Amino acid sequence: MTDAQARRVQAQFGASAAAYVTSPLHAAGEDLDRLLAWGAARRADRVLDVATGGGHTALAFASIARRVVACDLTEPMLAAARAHVRSHSGASVEFVAGDAGALPFRDESFDVVTCRTAAHHFADVAAAVRQIHRVLRPGGSLLLQDILGHDDADASAFILEVEKRRDPSHVRSYRAAEWKAFLRAVGLTVMEDSVVWKLREWNEWTGRMRMTTEARRELEDLVRRAPERCRAAFDFRLTPDAVVSFNDRQILIRADRD
Ligand SMILES: C[S@@+](CC[C@H](N)C(=O)[O-])C[C@H]1O[C@@H](n2cnc3c(N)ncnc32)[C@H](O)[C@@H]1O
Repeated sequence: MTDAQARRVQAQFGASAAAYVTSPLHAAGEDLDRLLAWGAARRADRVLDVATGGGHTALAFASIARRVVACDLTEPMLAAARAHVRSHSGASVEFVAGDAGALPFRDESFDVVTCRTAAHHFADVAAAVRQIHRVLRPGGSLLLQDILGHDDADASAFILEVEKRRDPSHVRSYRAAEWKAFLRAVGLTVMEDSVVWKLREWNEWTGRMRMTTEARRELEDLVRRAPERCRAAFDFRLTPDAVVSFNDRQILIRADRD
């Protein structure tokens, strides 16, 4: 990860840590249920949660795994996640500071690696995937979820602009074929994949990243001026004077180490 991208991530998430811990979209959802069901079926024993954010995925996996380690680049996020997990009696998670592109763990030390709603922040996804492969034991599984890249170039450019204005640490999201290529390149074979929709309630979504009123108004203008088919690709809901919500697709992948 470049220093500049690490600083962007830490600036964004350091100041928003509490909002991520309480975010209902992160605390639960069909995507988290699916990852957990895959983990249970794989008998996840030693689990690493990469880019743990508010710790919701780590906490969910603590109910099925003997050992869960949660790793994140942003120290205030780790502190908030630790406090959140501690408030759930009986849950045990170890927290470690680290970059997905240089994971501070031994080779082959985990049965399962989870990475949820985070890879679109990685400066070098290929490097992170290589690291995940390295720390997985042979036969172990990566359980991945992230925003799915759109196939249409205009829709993709539109949503990238929206995402980056709301959160400058957003790098980009990847299409299914791109994910499969990243994984195949390191020896991770896709065994299961699916797509789920996630509704973004506009005020919550822009507020979580502390957008100023002015920046939010400029972003709403950008959404209104965008071609209708770009808005339709993400099911943007608008009233005459407000943006209400949009929908985006999330890819879920279980990929096993050869
Ligand atoms: C949206 S939150 C993750 C949500 C969380 N995984 C969950 O399931 O609720 C994104 C997190 O990715 C972390 N992050 C971004 N780039 C990272 C990197 N290169 N290495 C480790 N963590 C990173 C940020 O610090 C932030 O805490």
